[in-house]
Amino acid sequence: MSDQSNNQRVAVVGLGLLGRGIAACFLGHGFNVVAIDRSQEQHAEARKQLAIMMGELVELGGFNPQVRDEWTTRYTAATDFSSVKDCSFVVESVTEDIATKEAVFDSLENLLSATTVIATNTSAIPISQLQLRRKIPARFVGMHWAEPAHSTRFMELIRGEKTSDETLQTAAAMARRLGKEPCICQKDIPGFIVNRIGYAMYREALNVLQSGLADAETIDCAMRNAFGLWASVCGPLRWIDLTGGPELYAKAMQHVLPSLSNSAKLPAPMQQLAAEGARGITNGRGFYSYTPEEAHRWEELYRRHAWRVAEMHNQYFPLNKTNE
Ligand SMILES: NC(=O)c1ccc[n+]([C@@H]2O[C@H](COP(=O)([O-])OP(=O)(O)OC[C@H]3O[C@@H](n4cnc5c(N)ncnc54)[C@H](O)[C@@H]3O)[C@@H](O)[C@H]2O)c1
Repeated sequence: MSDQSNNQRVAVVGLGLLGRGIAACFLGHGFNVVAIDRSQEQHAEARKQLAIMMGELVELGGFNPQVRDEWTTRYTAATDFSSVKDCSFVVESVTEDIATKEAVFDSLENLLSATTVIATNTSAIPISQLQLRRKIPARFVGMHWAEPAHSTRFMELIRGEKTSDETLQTAAAMARRLGKEPCICQKDIPGFIVNRIGYAMYREALNVLQSGLADAETIDCAMRNAFGLWASVCGPLRWIDLTGGPELYAKAMQHVLPSLSNSAKLPAPMQQLAAEGARGITNGRGFYSYTPEEAHRWEELYRRHAWRVAEMHNQYFPLNKTNE
């Protein structure tokens, strides 16, 4: 399922949760990868995780077993930027902090050729803001990956105010080579497409919780069995078409919309848990509490599930991969 080795050299900056998966995705598709992180511990952890992910690509993703055996020969780990010089595409995935990201771009800009695309994996910082200090803002684009980055098809590309058409096309072509389905967000709005819609849903889930209409388990169970079924084959708009169409939904919407939360304030349960330092499965505290074993089980379950969805998508919606 993977492309042949292609000799193209790319760089991934930041080897945290997302960066490791991004590096695995490039490696799985035959690229030579320069992986940069300032932390030696992160490099060590990334190497361990990469070995696991390359195994998954072969065992669960049907990739050529060769990629599991020879990826290390195409992988260069670095703590500084000197080896990015001849990279033709760079993905930045460092800590979500403007100053940190800008310092990385300053270093990259001094070394890269003028034609190299720089893609940022920011979740929420406006691309246009990150373009302000760039020498060549036209080559700069948002590339929003999702976890697990090596196995999902998800990718949003975000056009900043100064992103050129050429850059967007190069990024879209790269996305397709990586087995993604690039979804282009033509304007640099908070949350882009998916998080924007997601946050509207999270707010209402918290509203239902706070109003005492249902507890967390009930809300999650209902969503898993309803959205969890249809959202993996169609989006909300096709779902409307499949179940009555706009005419029917328009009537229901008129009744439901006035009762939905449209508050711009943080919902109280979220505010309280955040103030208590709840970091979900990372520290075992969130809307539920987790033992380390439970946290691990949920992580594993989600990762396995991502491969099952990938398999189903390959069957229902075969990708038209190109080598543009
Ligand atoms: N976590 C998610 O689910 C998710 C999803 C999509 C996008 N993102 C975005 O991806 C980016 C990375 O997120 P993450 O969850 O992987 O973060 P993380 O904290 O796990 O990893 C960040 C990495 O960046 C490294 N780093 C920081 N400053 C650096 C520098 N100057 N030079 C080199 N390396 C540096 C850190 O050592 C660390 O390994 C963020 O912008 C985040 O918003 C995250």
